[in-house]
Order: sequence, then C-alpha cells, then structure tokens
Amino acid sequence: MKRRILILLGLLAVMVPTVAFMVACNAGPKVQVGIVLPTKDEPRWIQDETRFQDALKTAGYTTEILFSQGDSAKESANVDALISKGIKVLIICPQDASAAAAAADKAHKAGVKVISYDRLIRDTPNVDYYVTFDSVAVGAAWGTYLAENAKGKGNNLYLYAGAASDNNAFLFFQGAWSVLQPKIADGTFVIKNSSQAVALKDQATLNRDDEGKIIGQVTTNWDFNTAKNLAEANLTAAKAADKGTVYICAPNDGTARAIADAFAADKAVKKYYITGQDAEVASIQYIIDGKQSMTVLKDVRVLVNDAIAAAVAYLKGGKPDQTTTYNNGKADIPAKPSQIVTVTKDNVKAAIIDSGYWPASDFKGI
Ligand code: BGC
Repeated sequence: MKRRILILLGLLAVMVPTVAFMVACNAGPKVQVGIVLPTKDEPRWIQDETRFQDALKTAGYTTEILFSQGDSAKESANVDALISKGIKVLIICPQDASAAAAAADKAHKAGVKVISYDRLIRDTPNVDYYVTFDSVAVGAAWGTYLAENAKGKGNNLYLYAGAASDNNAFLFFQGAWSVLQPKIADGTFVIKNSSQAVALKDQATLNRDDEGKIIGQVTTNWDFNTAKNLAEANLTAAKAADKGTVYICAPNDGTARAIADAFAADKAVKKYYITGQDAEVASIQYIIDGKQSMTVLKDVRVLVNDAIAAAVAYLKGGKPDQTTTYNNGKADIPAKPSQIVTVTKDNVKAAIIDSGYWPASDFKGI
C-alpha cells in the first residue's frame, strides 16, 4: 500500500508541471514571452532554438519562438505579431543592430520589457537588459591562441570579421586587436590582407570608426560564401612568401570552415592556424580532424537560462542580475556577461563531450 502511494506521488510529481505547462500552452492565443532569433540558416541559431525548447519544457509559462531569416522587415513583423499576442517580455537577437531599434521602441511603447539576446540592439534607450557572453573575451581568445602558436617574427596574419551590422563583430574585433596589435607592433605578425589594418597597426586601441574601416574591408557578413570568396581573393592577391605557414583570425565556425577550406586548397599554404566560435558540431569534427585549430565554446544553455531568468524576473515585477553595462550608442544597457571557453584538440573531449554539450555519437574519431 505504502509503495503504491509512493509510486502515485512520484507520478504526480512528474505530471503536475507537465500538465501545468500543457494547460499554459493551450490557454489561448496569449503568449507571455516572445523570442525572436535571426536566422535558421546558421547552426548557431538552431542551437539556441533547441536549447530554448529544452529549457522551456519545464518553465511553466507560454512562449513563442519566431525567426527573422536575415530580414529586418520580417523581424519587425515578428515583433508586431508577438505584441498582438500580448507578450510581456521580448527576447530578441537582432538581425541588424540599428534597424532593430524601431522594433524595440514599438515593444516598449506596448509596455513590453525588451531583452537583447546575444547581439546588442543599438541606437535606442528602449532596451531593458542585455543577455550576452563576454564577446570581447571571445576575440581575445582568438588573439591569444594565434599568438601562443606563433614562432619568431614575421608570421603571416590574415584577419576576417563578422557583419558590420552586428555589434558583436566590433566587440570580437576589439578583443582580438587588444592581443594581436602588440604582436603586430613587435613584428611577430605581419598583416597580409587588410590595408586598413596595416594603416592602423600602431594604435593600441581603436575607436568604433577605425574598427569599422577594418571590418568593412575584411567582413564575411557572417556568410559562408562571402567568407570563401574573400579568402580566395586574398590568396590570389598574396605572394608565395605570404603563404607557407599562416595565422588566420576567423570570426565564427561557419566562416572558419569556409576560409579553412580555401586555404587548405592552396598548395602554397603548408600549415594554417585558424580560430572560430560557437562549437558547432561540424567545427568540432574539423578540430578532431585537424582542419580547424580552435573554437570558442559559448555554452548556449547558459545564455538561454540567463534569458529565461531575466524574463521571469520581469514577469514577477523584479529586475535581472547585473554586473556591468554595455553602451549601445544611446544608453548604458545592464548586463551580466557569461564566460567563454577556448576549445582545441587537447581539451575537446572534456569541454564538449564530458560537459554534455554534444554527445560523442555526433563525432568520428573522438
Ligand atoms: C554571434 C555568433 C554567431 C554570429 C553569426 C554573432 O552575433 O555571437 O555566435 O556565430 O553572430 O550568426
């Protein structure tokens, strides 16, 4: 009898939150938290969707996730749709930092709290909170990795950047430059593919306009094909002496694989070191296979939990935790950036498999 009661209690413990969530989901068109992500075309944002879905299984409140497919007009329409469903909190990763300001303004006007997710919305005071990783640390991790693997002087350095419409591209570049510039100044590295970076090579810190000049010249626009074409153009323009062993600062995993493939296809390139970020499954396999040198793990589970915690704080009438602020051109936005982890062949098993980030079955040769 006692056992039966215990089993019943056990069953109830499992079922009550699930039923509560199902009831909440079916409660009608009302949605409490709206989530808008930039595109389904990059594995990074599918990761975020999946991790949100996993975390929301037990959250007990109603949410809806929409994708903007790289289009600010669609992003704006998504925000309108969510506002009309009665959201109280909007978690939004902007497609274009400045274009998204209008969407944030609309949401705020409708009494919705706006959480900028991973990428900072710029040029509006109507952003309540920024959920992010330490993006400057991401760039610094690239610089550190490349510098630690450079030997002697005169090493060939190729710089690539994210989209100029993404505030993160500037933060990543700022972090990378903080480590690479002293190594360029002391002759360890020689920049091979950016006259703008060469012109600014003696400046330890760059203002946003100067960063913009370099990013404009070496942008991948976060697009694999753009990255591949740019790398091929750089290789065509390079002399044999600019090849041999090369050091490549690549801004994320998708573009890193495209750039790595282009460099690997050039017979005059004997060895390359290349950075990345996002710990995408395909790039972890590249690292295991020795085709990509490192990635930066930004544990999306942490970001998702931070975003949900912030949303819940607002739903309960409180405020999320804050350790710093990020200036978005109009206001200092409260934030609590999360830590990042450098992943190489040496720690890939501990950082990716043992941490439960991806299962070993996703990879060959681990
Ligand atoms: C994100 C990266 C991502 C890139 C391209 C950045 O804002 O922080 O994780 O790889 O956008 O989507």
